[in-house]
Amino acid sequence: MTFKDLGLSDSRLILKDALKNKYLVGAFNFNNVEQMQAIIEAAHETRSPIILQAAWGGVSHFRKEIFPHVVKGGMEYNRFLADKDRTTPVPVALNLDHGATFEQCEACCRLGFSSIMIDGSHHEYEENVRLTAEVVKMAKSYDPDINVEGELGIIGGQEDEVISDDKRYTDPAQAIDFAERTGVDSLAISAGTAHGAKKFQPKDLIRDEKGNMVPPPLKTDIVKEISLKKPELPLVLHGASAIPEEYVKLFNSYGGTLNEAIGIPDSYVKAMAPTSICKVNIHSDGRLVFMAALRKGLADKSGSIEERNFLNLGKEEMKNYYMYKMKEVLLSSGHA
Ligand code: 13P
Ligand code: ZN
Repeated sequence: MTFKDLGLSDSRLILKDALKNKYLVGAFNFNNVEQMQAIIEAAHETRSPIILQAAWGGVSHFRKEIFPHVVKGGMEYNRFLADKDRTTPVPVALNLDHGATFEQCEACCRLGFSSIMIDGSHHEYEENVRLTAEVVKMAKSYDPDINVEGELGIIGGQEDEVISDDKRYTDPAQAIDFAERTGVDSLAISAGTAHGAKKFQPKDLIRDEKGNMVPPPLKTDIVKEISLKKPELPLVLHGASAIPEEYVKLFNSYGGTLNEAIGIPDSYVKAMAPTSICKVNIHSDGRLVFMAALRKGLADKSGSIEERNFLNLGKEEMKNYYMYKMKEVLLSSGHA
């Protein structure tokens, strides 16, 4: 099975368009059908190209025998929405997020992913080069149109099984060497973001010109230096969730205990649109928004067993939130 059989678009073309037209493509993780619907509906409403993504933990949650069929259903839904509005389906790609081993990457090529991330960033540099180059060779022999994303530098924080106490910024000169020796189509860099809902500790915050405490600015010089030498290489920003305070408050006011949650301000991400950052990974925001709506719904209707209604509350909240992201932060609306 190839990604074309699932009705997915070529990830490399999606990234190329974002690079040329200076916008950001949202790569949104999903862990259930309602979340996939929310992402596809938001993309339709805003006419945005999107990348659906799942880490190996997400694929295993669905069961790998089921996962491609769910995505294929999503693509049929994409076509249905287009026909209904007398328009075209939006470009949708599917990426393996943080592939940890050659075997996971190979399995996802077989399942019909249009993009594979091999995350060898925790290895020594030479081992990262070797493993990534091996995955590129395998993926291209499977289908030359599969996009392979590598990672260089260490992005801190925690997301599912990806945990890092360490944080190391990407060295731009090494990034050029890495891209040339591995043949990756896109590269994830470490430029000041982190995974999860707790990206910074309060002590890491700095005071902005208005006197508000904010996270330190992202290292845009790293992006600039890489793109100066390799302007055609699409870069990827992981750990880009904003963790909006209003949703943390909502989550906590219905029994949640998410403390000291700090994300990346939307303005920091939006400022990346004109650079060679093309893909922005967002997972924690979707989880937070979905769970906050679910918590509120469960408390409001504590006598109800109608699970569909509760899951729909999460879905609608996520859809509205991602529409805002696409329009106001990623600037991807109107590019599908
Ligand atoms: P967040 O935890 O900031 O959503 O980052 C997600 C991510 O980088 C997925 O690869
Ligand atoms: Zn990530």
